[in-house]
Amino acid sequence: MSEPTIQRIAVLTSGGDAPGMNAALRAVVLAADHYGLEVIAFRHGYKGLLENDYFEIKPKDVLHVLQYSGTVIKSARCQRFKEVEAAQQAAANLDALKIDALVVIGGDGSFRGADHLANHWHGQVIGVPGTIDNDLYGTDATIGYATAVAIAMDALDKIRDTADAMDRVFIVEVMGRDAGFIGLGSAMAAGSERMVLPELQKDKPLTIPALVKHIQKVQEIRGEGSYVMVLSEHQWPGGAVALAEQLEAEYHLPCRPCLLGHIQRGGAPAPSDRILASQLGVHAVELILKGQHRVMAGIRGNQCVEVPLRDTWEKKNPLDQNLLRIQHEIFNPVKKKPRINPL
Ligand code: ADP
Ligand code: F6P
Repeated sequence: MSEPTIQRIAVLTSGGDAPGMNAALRAVVLAADHYGLEVIAFRHGYKGLLENDYFEIKPKDVLHVLQYSGTVIKSARCQRFKEVEAAQQAAANLDALKIDALVVIGGDGSFRGADHLANHWHGQVIGVPGTIDNDLYGTDATIGYATAVAIAMDALDKIRDTADAMDRVFIVEVMGRDAGFIGLGSAMAAGSERMVLPELQKDKPLTIPALVKHIQKVQEIRGEGSYVMVLSEHQWPGGAVALAEQLEAEYHLPCRPCLLGHIQRGGAPAPSDRILASQLGVHAVELILKGQHRVMAGIRGNQCVEVPLRDTWEKKNPLDQNLLRIQHEIFNPVKKKPRINPL
């Protein structure tokens, strides 16, 4: 079978912006230029695709963007795109612009959107994993995750200084929608006493008495000092603020909340995110040239791979069990008997 002749591709960034999206965009544009393809960029994700809000994007437009987070072509969440008519409209717009393939840089929602479009459009659709949540199956990391963990770690280090000075308990809320990757990564990197992650909540949901017991035990063992807990968002009604208030009011613990929020999506992307984004942006263009369709450009064990788009959200990307074990059992200040003897 001969590979299709590709002349013109489109690119968009969609959903929650992630540090490194600009680097991925740059890589797509530079790779396309290298292979003699024209590129148009839609602004504001699927919204721009529906509204024909686009421009011809050239290497000069992306020369110095990789050091910035956010996305220079803008992102959006667009509920309307879930409708069949929207996908049909998008297909008509892409055809009118003579687009052969579309690169979608985003998270699982954006990939569902890409798959939805592919049901109504004959062109090739390729995903590039851009989300701080790291919750996509098939790639060792998503673009933005490393930066988000670094930011959360930096914040936790700072919190530790003041928490230690005043012997306080801090509840630090991190992002991650339904996934605990940022929580686990930052808790380990910053040496937190405890973490509450969505994946752990299913088996053993957080309760106030159990948390208070843990805090008191840690204080018994260590004496005075700080206790820093990482709380993934949406894991407690009212989040870190409500939990801290409850601990102070009901148990008289000196407790403060800290919400890291969208800070985790800004600043300079980490080197590893810039490099990952550069690799995957080029890989996406090369997958198009190889005739691939409905796949995500991913990375596994330092190899570029392609993953069926549907697998990226239908299959689960589990937390690293060894990191969980280390953080929970070996680094837990309240020691339990080891379950296994690895020696
Ligand atoms: P992310 O890509 O970061 O996971 P969202 O979940 O908000 O972010 O998805 C981004 C956009 O993708 C949505 O605003 C919508 O336009 C589109 N999208 C998400 N889910 C679907 C779906 N099931 N069908 C079609 N489009 C979708
Ligand atoms: O999906 C990325 C993410 O940052 C999640 O971690 C978070 O729950 C969500 O986006 C926040 O979305 P918004 O920017 O729309 O408030």
